[in-house]
Amino acid sequence: MDFDLVVRNGTVVTASDIWESCDIGIKDGIIVAVGPRLPATAGAQEIDAEGAFITPGGVDSHVHLSQVHNANIDDVDRSAITDGVIPDRENYVGDTYDTGTRSAVAGGTTTVVTFASQMKTDESIIPVIENYHKLAKDQSYCDYAFHAIITNPTSQIVEDEFPRMVEEYGITSVKLYMTYKPMRLLDYQILDVMYSARKLGITTMVHAENADIIDWMTQHLEQKLMTHPHHHGTSRPPIVEAEATNRVICLAELMDTPILLVHISGGPATKHIRDAQTRLLPIYGETCPQYMFLLADSMRKGDFEGAKCVCSPPIREDKSDQDAIWAGIKNGTFNVVSSDHAPCKYNHPNGKQRGLQHGNLPYGKFRFIPNGLPGVETRVPLLFSGGVLSGRISPQKFVEVTSTNPAKLYGLKKKGSIAPGFDADLVIWYPQAKFQPFNLTNDMLHHAIDYTPFEGIEFKNWPRYTIIRGKVVFSHGEVVGEMGYGQFIRREKSLLPGPRDVWLTEWRP
Ligand code: URP
Ligand code: ZN
Ligand code: ZN
Repeated sequence: MDFDLVVRNGTVVTASDIWESCDIGIKDGIIVAVGPRLPATAGAQEIDAEGAFITPGGVDSHVHLSQVHNANIDDVDRSAITDGVIPDRENYVGDTYDTGTRSAVAGGTTTVVTFASQMKTDESIIPVIENYHKLAKDQSYCDYAFHAIITNPTSQIVEDEFPRMVEEYGITSVKLYMTYKPMRLLDYQILDVMYSARKLGITTMVHAENADIIDWMTQHLEQKLMTHPHHHGTSRPPIVEAEATNRVICLAELMDTPILLVHISGGPATKHIRDAQTRLLPIYGETCPQYMFLLADSMRKGDFEGAKCVCSPPIREDKSDQDAIWAGIKNGTFNVVSSDHAPCKYNHPNGKQRGLQHGNLPYGKFRFIPNGLPGVETRVPLLFSGGVLSGRISPQKFVEVTSTNPAKLYGLKKKGSIAPGFDADLVIWYPQAKFQPFNLTNDMLHHAIDYTPFEGIEFKNWPRYTIIRGKVVFSHGEVVGEMGYGQFIRREKSLLPGPRDVWLTEWRP
C-alpha cells in the first residue's frame, strides 16, 4: 500500500466503535486504510499518536462569519457588506473567514458551515450567496460550506431561486428566524419556505422564540428600569422558546417536512422536540456548549460585564434546564452540538458596548446589546474534556454529535468519520498521562475577539494535531496551516430521514 501519511498507534473513535492500537493510512488527502500495523511506505510522513484518542475532525454546522449585521441590530450600514470585502476590518467587531477558521482549526474543527445572510431589503438571494463566496475565497484555514438565512421569502426566491441554490450552489439548508425585527418571518411565510424546501429536499433550520412575548417583556422591563444584561434572560423565559418550538413543529407536521430546531437552550423546548420524535416526525435538534456548561449567573457579573454572555436564546437560570440539555444529548433528542459562534467584541463601541449607549444607567439597556458569543474554538475541546473525560458522554457519542451527525444532516458526504474513502480530517489528542490540565484564558485562543465566555474553565485535554485532507494544520498549540487551504464544499441533500408522506388533512402539496 502506498501512503503519503500514516498516523500510528491511536485509539480511533467513530460514532459507533473504538479501536485501540490502530493506524490510519492516508493518500491524496483521503483515508485509504484503517487497521493494525499498516506497512511502512518509503517517503511517507509518520505521526505517532502514542495511544491517544483520534477522532474525526469537528464539523461545526452553525458558525457566523463576516456577517456585518447582528441579528438584533437593525441600524446596519448596507455598504459595509457589498462586493465581497469588509472595507473597515480594523473596526469589524466579529470574526471574518480568516480569523474564525484559524480559531476553528486550533480547536479541532475541520469544516464549518457558515451563513450567507439575506437582509430584508435583498430581493434576490443569488447576489447574497455570491458576496459570501467572495468574503470566504482564499481566506479560510478549514473547509467551509454555506446555509442561506432567508429573511424575505418572496415567491421569486422560494420558487425560482431555491432550486438554483441547491443545483448551482450546493446549498441544501436554510435558516429562518421567528424573532428579531430585522430577520423574523411570520408563520405564513414559514409555510411558504417549507412548501418549497420539502419539494427540493432542503433542510429548514429554525430559530424558535416568540417575538411578541420578547418585545412585550422588554418594553415592560424597561419601564421598571430592569435593563441590566441579565434581564435579557428575564425577558425570554424558557416558555418563549418552547411556544415557538411547538408552533414550528406543528407547521412542519402540516407540511410533512423535516426541520432542525437550532441552539435549543431549555428543558420545555427539548420536551417538545422529544415528543415530536416519539411520534416519528423528522424533527431534529441542535444545542450548544453555552447551554451545557454555563448558567445565567454569567450574565449577572458586574454592572455590564454580563453582556459578554448575552445571546439568544439566553443562557438559562435553572440547573434543571442544563440537565435536560445533557439528557437530550444522551438520549438522541439532540442530533448535533454546534457552537453558534456569533461573536462580537466587548470593548468596542459597535460591539457589546452598544448596550451602554442609550441613557446613563451604569448597567445599560440589554435590548441594545448585540446578541451572540464566540465558541468555534472551544466547542470540541469542551465536549471532549467536560463530556467524555468527565464521564458524562461516551467517546462515540462525542463523535456523533460533534462530527458524524452534522456531516450526515447537512449532506457533507466525505466528512464526519474515520473510514476508507472519507476525507482525512482528524483530531489527534494528547495521551492523557502527558497532558497538564489548564484553565482557559482568552489569550490562548485564535479568534479576533477580546473575551471568551468560557474563561477560567478547566480543560483536561486539547487537540494535539488537527489534520485536514491529510495535512497537519494545527500542531502543539500552533496554527501551521495556511489561509486559503480551506475549500468550499458543495453539499448534497441530508442523509437523515425526510418527509414521510403522512398528512393531517386531505390536502397535498
Ligand atoms: O445570540 C445569537 N445566537 N446570535 C446569533 C444569531 C442567531 O440567532 O443564531
Ligand atoms: Zn439563531
Ligand atoms: Zn446563530
